[in-house]
Amino acid sequence: MSLACEDIHIRLGGRPILEGVTLSAAAGEILGVVGPNGAGKTTLFEVLSGRLAPDRGRILLNGRDVTSLKLHARARQGLARTYQSPVVPDALTVGEVFRSARQAYPPYLTRFHAEWAAEAVGLDVLPSAMAGSLEALNRRKLLLACLLMRRPRVMLLDEPAAGLINAEIDELDAIIRRLAREMDMAVLLVEHRLELLSATADRVVVLDLGRLIAEGPPEATFDDPRVRAAYFETASP
Ligand SMILES: Nc1ncnc2c1ncn2[C@@H]1O[C@H](COP(=O)(O)OP(=O)(O)O)[C@@H](O)[C@H]1O
Ligand SMILES: [Mg+2]
Repeated sequence: MSLACEDIHIRLGGRPILEGVTLSAAAGEILGVVGPNGAGKTTLFEVLSGRLAPDRGRILLNGRDVTSLKLHARARQGLARTYQSPVVPDALTVGEVFRSARQAYPPYLTRFHAEWAAEAVGLDVLPSAMAGSLEALNRRKLLLACLLMRRPRVMLLDEPAAGLINAEIDELDAIIRRLAREMDMAVLLVEHRLELLSATADRVVVLDLGRLIAEGPPEATFDDPRVRAAYFETASP
């Protein structure tokens, strides 16, 4: 399934945050969405997932206009999303987290679905382990498995590498690539560090101050002078 948006505009707090964003990701493709902090990447995911309604523009899921559908309706159509901070319910065990994900909304899923998803992401922890005791990579895997068990067709991943060390990032990237291929999912992957997307994304789009400034294969796009400028201007001292 593919995901596209056309001419997305949104204002928040009285100022334009996204201005005319148009992009698409095909089934099986990993589209990197990069840009300096504050570029509007998370806001774009809020709009694509249905948490925020755009002031203008439309969102297409497999060619069908879903702009007026709420978050849950889009989720039922196969659009899944993770958040920038991997918040797991600390007081629940891994088994309980899986159970609540299975029973979150119809169709209710069986333990088989949860076991399949845990295996698909390579989550190797006991169901009795406290979710709050998991380390960063396992938290990411747990949340990813909770989404995967519903067999989404499009996944929006907001900075999944945040808080991970290099070896963990490589492992997570390999998992994401394999899942995109095997499940023929369109994956939109937000990351503010350009270099992390070179090996993972098939294609990237670069957002700066709410506008798309470049698009193409990762390496060539990162060499684009406009992209370099956007990064240098906002680089911290
Ligand atoms: N609810 C909001 N109200 C006002 N401004 C917001 C709101 N959400 C985000 N912004 C602003 O929009 C800009 C883009 O934010 P965000 O989408 O989080 O960027 P990114 O994920 O690329 O770092 C920032 O300047 C941020 O302060
Ligand atoms: Mg963000």
